[in-house]
Amino acid sequence: MSLHEVQVTINGKSYIEYVEPRMLLSDFIRETCGLTGTHVGCEHGVCGACTVIMSGTAVRSCLIFAVQAHQQEIKTVEGLSCNGEMTPLQKNFVECHGLQCGFCTAGILMSMTDFLDKHPSPSAKEIKETLSGHLCRCTGYDGIVKAIEKTIQENKEEVLQRS
Ligand code: FES
Ligand code: FES
Repeated sequence: MSLHEVQVTINGKSYIEYVEPRMLLSDFIRETCGLTGTHVGCEHGVCGACTVIMSGTAVRSCLIFAVQAHQQEIKTVEGLSCNGEMTPLQKNFVECHGLQCGFCTAGILMSMTDFLDKHPSPSAKEIKETLSGHLCRCTGYDGIVKAIEKTIQENKEEVLQRS
């Protein structure tokens, strides 16, 4: 099978690879680039575990071919922290017991990072609607919702302090 060039930037690092056209972006990220923080569960767009941010939008990397990511910019869970410092959302997941086994966590963090960037003050219904695209078998979602609500509150307080 012929190989296709994929040039992509992931977490600020440039990758140029040659892949089969059928390779999924999730496999490219994990196997070709070695970024195993992105998890693969259902491989058909249901569980949300494989979510990454591609060119500013949260997407399911198991529903995209690696060749479709050519010349795009991708952020994975490894790219969230800055100089080893977790984001407020990540810290609140820890504090609020938003994870147990952690299998779903990377995908939820990527979805909610994108969601909170675009909706700084969402309603409880909007939070739950966004979370409905992610399956978590451990937490019952309570800790996850608390972590998200705490992050929203902290962001609001920070904005108030700055004004
Ligand atoms: S592995 Fe992609 S949505 Fe489940
Ligand atoms: S923490 Fe285990 S699946 Fe969500």
